[in-house]
Amino acid sequence: KVVAVIMVGGPTKGTRFRPLSLNVPKPLFPLAGQPMVHHPISACKRIPNLVQIYLIGFYEEREFALYVSSISNELRVPVRYLREDKPHGSAGGIYNFKDRIMEDSPSHIFLLNCDVCCSFPLPDMLVAHKKYGGIGTILVSKVSAESASQFGELVADHITNELLHYTEKPETFVSDLINCGVYIFTPDIFAAIRDVSAQRKDRANLRRVSSFDFESLQSGTKTIPSDFVRLDQDILSPLAGKRQLYTYETLEFWEQIKTPGMSLKCSGLYLSQFRCTSPHLLADGDGLNSPTIVGDVYIHPSAKVHPTAKIGPNVSISANAHVGAGARLISCIILDDVDIRENAVVIHSIVGWKSSIGKWSRVQGEGDYNAKLGITILGEAVDVEDEIVVINSIVLPNKTLNISVQEEIIL
Ligand code: GDD
Repeated sequence: KVVAVIMVGGPTKGTRFRPLSLNVPKPLFPLAGQPMVHHPISACKRIPNLVQIYLIGFYEEREFALYVSSISNELRVPVRYLREDKPHGSAGGIYNFKDRIMEDSPSHIFLLNCDVCCSFPLPDMLVAHKKYGGIGTILVSKVSAESASQFGELVADHITNELLHYTEKPETFVSDLINCGVYIFTPDIFAAIRDVSAQRKDRANLRRVSSFDFESLQSGTKTIPSDFVRLDQDILSPLAGKRQLYTYETLEFWEQIKTPGMSLKCSGLYLSQFRCTSPHLLADGDGLNSPTIVGDVYIHPSAKVHPTAKIGPNVSISANAHVGAGARLISCIILDDVDIRENAVVIHSIVGWKSSIGKWSRVQGEGDYNAKLGITILGEAVDVEDEIVVINSIVLPNKTLNISVQEEIIL
């Protein structure tokens, strides 16, 4: 039996995702019309003998209740949300629910970060992992040397794929091979986490006895609680080079989703993946009353788009949105209940829930997904009046724009 665990984090982790995380937990923000966490969950469905999917986080239970029950019915695999009372770190989080995870006596446990976007080649990882025979296999990918330092950098043996060296977000370049945040472990991982936690406890006791805290004096930091264990620094680094961890390289797309700009890029990656995996979700533009569709586009069945509008590529339109005659939408995410009036243009932008964009208005970003103002973001219930131009700006919820703005953050 196999169990999958998806780490969803909690509200404090979503600050870079503002203003979009003000309305919805980041893991539920829609990419290609589906909640972010839906993509790894549906990938889990392809794992042979999967019996259970757990989401672990420190968001309120009720925030996930609806999604978890509807997806369990849809996939016919039980999906449960397990709430931590406080952050325990990426490894401490699963250790906290060890008994629950081991209830079905799984032989293997998949562990996935919710904020990565890739093709999740999980069945292939399982095959590779069984062949290697270690306690864990990490999905890895090559990235540009300039961007590698944002991730865990690692060195692997070219022939055996053993993880030889691991360092988390190093200051000096180590390798362009990075940790994708997708793992498979045997239950032995729990013993490894327990050992780290026990060592911490011992050290803390020692300090109490020796009256002054030498370690925190040296590092100038507060000591980490013994039940807070990070998978990368505390587990992967020390186990590297001990024939316990192996790597599986993906040559397909991989991105991390920390900012709204990256969510727009990843929405496009998932839309293009739908061409192979779920073509029925893509708008085809064939119907009598359908708009002109360019490239990969998702339109929720309840959205109303005028037949003279032109939509795509990389556009996703959520529930009850309305797009008027002659509107032009390119590379954007339109959230629930948005109203885009006649001849408005939206390019490289995210338009928040219940917002409206007036006639002949233009909401646009330059399309640099990594720049702070590289896309335009309208928070919830922003009202852009007729004939207004909004370029490379972020507008917080409940604002009315009656003058044009460029490169501004409107608080
Ligand atoms: N439940 C829970 N509790 N989840 C957590 C906690 C926690 O205390 N801390 C982090 N997470 C979740 C986050 O929501 C995210 O999905 C994942 O665990 C990793 O988050 P971080 O520990 O903040 O690390 P990161 O995202 O900056 O980097 C990690 O992922 C990269 C790939 O995206 C590292 O493992 C990097 O090495 C890796 O390259």
